[in-house]
Amino acid sequence: MTISFQIKSTIDSRRSVRSYKMTGVEKDVMDEIKDYAKSIYVPFDHNVEIKFFKSNQTKALYTIMKSPPDNVAFMAETDIISISKVGFIGELLILFAVSKGLSTCWYGHYKLSELERLMPHLQTPEQIKESNMGYGYAKGVTTGRRAICISPLGYHESGGLRLIDRFQNKQISFKRKEIKELLVNPDDYEKLSDDVIYALDLGRKAPSAGNAQMWRFAFDETYRTINVAMPEGYRHLKWEHPNVDIGICACHIWLGLIDKGYNPKITVHEESNRAVWRISI
Ligand SMILES: Cc1cc2nc3c(=O)[nH]c(=O)nc-3n(C[C@H](O)[C@H](O)[C@H](O)COP(=O)(O)O)c2cc1C
Repeated sequence: MTISFQIKSTIDSRRSVRSYKMTGVEKDVMDEIKDYAKSIYVPFDHNVEIKFFKSNQTKALYTIMKSPPDNVAFMAETDIISISKVGFIGELLILFAVSKGLSTCWYGHYKLSELERLMPHLQTPEQIKESNMGYGYAKGVTTGRRAICISPLGYHESGGLRLIDRFQNKQISFKRKEIKELLVNPDDYEKLSDDVIYALDLGRKAPSAGNAQMWRFAFDETYRTINVAMPEGYRHLKWEHPNVDIGICACHIWLGLIDKGYNPKITVHEESNRAVWRISI
């Protein structure tokens, strides 16, 4: 399995960027990203589509910041497994874009009516009404294929950060829980190989809505199979689709194991209303 970007340094340098230069992505870079999107290989079936779209340089879509001209949407059905696969596959695209010098931000609470105007994708007008107070695609599982999350693709405008954004960046970005805090059974830590710890370290650096880091890790008796899922009954006050985030975290762990020379097996299934990813070496 070859991954076409430096795994660790790309994961370490990715940050959610909420301030963009109002210039489009250079054509050769955009072409590379589009080619990558077509060629993404993952060792499981999926129905995720990556759609690129243009937007106006207003705050109508992201509401807290102006859109740069280039953006990407991750499309799928809205069941638990499909949205978790959006996290996995979307993160590969995000990391590839970061490795090409672009800035990104996973976005679940975009303005659905504005997205539909920029990139018509809904199957019926009623679907607009399902968005949660106008934001995101819906509160839970719903009909049809939808844009699950979107991201800007552009260049960081470092001078443009408002004080509040600087504060937020400092407060909610970067900070991550330690691996030990993320284990279902904390005693497992002593049994983990250096390679598994390396992969979990990349997993814990995954982005999550509100930086909630709702992933928890469990193992089989050989400690060569990692289960990634949110705790049973987990609820996030403001984010309705945490299984997306679980897919992102599973992607980082899978990449970490590939970086250590393994060809990991990977499956995902639904258990107690959660997506459970199982990654084995
Ligand atoms: C699935 C998902 C949805 C997100 N939705 C939003 C959003 O609607 N608005 C926003 O400002 N940030 C959003 N974020 C970005 C997170 O706030 C950010 O990833 C987290 O605070 C960690 O910071 P970092 O990405 O810089 O490491 C989202 C992240 C994920 C993974």
